[in-house]
Amino acid sequence: MEVKIYQDYHALSEAAASEIIDLVKNKPGAVICLASGHTPRLTCKLFAEKALQQKTDLSRITFIGLDEWVGVPPDNEGSCHYFFQHEVFQPLHLSASQINLFNALSINLEQECQEMDKVIADKEGIDLMIVGIGMNGHIGFNEPGVSFDSYSHVIKLDDTTLTVGQKYFKTATSLGKGITLGLKHLQESKKVILIANGTKKAGVIKKTVEEKVNNSFPASIMQKHSNGFVMIDQEAAGLLNRNN
Ligand code: F6R
Repeated sequence: MEVKIYQDYHALSEAAASEIIDLVKNKPGAVICLASGHTPRLTCKLFAEKALQQKTDLSRITFIGLDEWVGVPPDNEGSCHYFFQHEVFQPLHLSASQINLFNALSINLEQECQEMDKVIADKEGIDLMIVGIGMNGHIGFNEPGVSFDSYSHVIKLDDTTLTVGQKYFKTATSLGKGITLGLKHLQESKKVILIANGTKKAGVIKKTVEEKVNNSFPASIMQKHSNGFVMIDQEAAGLLNRNN
């Protein structure tokens, strides 16, 4: 794992967006998994802008959504579906056959997990994951205590996630469980980039990079990835030891 520090949120997002473009240029059939949330919003916007400007052929990529709030419909503005629809799929005119998102309204969530795992396995794994980090160290909805060996699963959300998660919704929304790719997917992904910005993320970034790898702080698994990058702005890097 390598830590890369950028001047600010914009520079960090530019770099992350360029990573996606470069990958697709080298591998037009790439499998790309993105997180939703506040951090990747600018990355997605810049990716869409660059792809349109450069006329990047995205017709063969496979898109995988990292996670979803169980029970939240896709037209709710706080859902991951809504985020990707507006930030990525519509601007880039991706076709439905390229898009793989968990249906968090399914009556059979186990089957949703199995189908997602099969899509990823059939495509011979994910080429690039760009993920965020929660205030409890989660990646996706891999909450503290999760197994590092897990593939897709449904999980009871941690209190921190339930509280912080309200920021995505216009009105108070009942949240309880999440459906998510697992940390085994992350470990098996050919490249992983964790992005974070702002002073509020400085503490969790310090733990991600400097604490002993342990599943009570899931993002610490990044340290084990031989092609893993923690890409952060100077504010999020503010508490790191100098030698990182
Ligand atoms: C969202 C997701 C979450 C977020 C994390 C950080 O799809 O997977 O793990 O990446 O909670 O969220 P923001 O970027 O809003 O701080």
